[in-house]
Amino acid sequence: MALDIYDPAFVKTVFDRCSDRYITFSYVCSMGFTERWRKQCVAALALSGDGPKTGYDLMAGTGEVWPHLLASFPEVERIFAVDISSGMHRRAMERLHSMRADRVSFVEDDVLASDLPESSADFVISTFGLKTFNLGQQRELARLTARVLKPGGRFAYIEASDPKGWFLRWPYLLHLKVVLPLIERLVLRGAQDFAMIGTYASNFRDSGAFTAMLRDEGLDAEFRKAFFGCATLACGTKPT
Ligand SMILES: C[S@@+](CC[C@H](N)C(=O)[O-])C[C@H]1O[C@@H](n2cnc3c(N)ncnc32)[C@H](O)[C@@H]1O
Repeated sequence: MALDIYDPAFVKTVFDRCSDRYITFSYVCSMGFTERWRKQCVAALALSGDGPKTGYDLMAGTGEVWPHLLASFPEVERIFAVDISSGMHRRAMERLHSMRADRVSFVEDDVLASDLPESSADFVISTFGLKTFNLGQQRELARLTARVLKPGGRFAYIEASDPKGWFLRWPYLLHLKVVLPLIERLVLRGAQDFAMIGTYASNFRDSGAFTAMLRDEGLDAEFRKAFFGCATLACGTKPT
């Protein structure tokens, strides 16, 4: 039977194996861009209004976005982080001990199979969590986003994308598809797990289709580019 790289069970094994080296590899190989893009995603969330806020960090990984989220929005009282990978969960909990554990709860689950309550969130954020979903799964995720947000709630997703039309597109794709797998093979001696992440990223294209799906679910969704489209965002509001 053909390997389905979008099967959640398969995705989980990729990230379980990557989890110990994920933070360093993603920072070094993106030359710091992933951190910059996480901050842009938090800025696009643009929480406003009075009162404490509660929401979801979907495909949370090891909680890379939490420091930015908590620093930018002190009114965030609690983050419910969801991730399918036990390896990422374990690393996130290690990190939790050194920060505000009272403000973050971690749910280890396949987000599409999870039963997150309706109208339970003031915000939904996700950084680099879209690429391992095929179009059908992205549609389910759009539906889930619309369901869990309260009216007036905000959302922001960011994902590495194919910068079509940019004059440095080919060097960038070469970096993603050839250089990173080579570094992994020669330096990390890994099982080509980060090469898999490169495959997901180049298959993903950009957040345009997902933005349209969010609109289909009744959300006010905007498509934005970061750094010439090397990352793209889908962000907006659930109408009141
Ligand atoms: C590239 S990492 C992103 C981690 C983090 N948000 C960041 O900013 O680096 C993608 C994460 O999505 C998680 N993931 C993939 N499919 C998932 C699913 N169906 N349900 C929950 N988490 C999933 C993986 O385990 C992985 O930790």
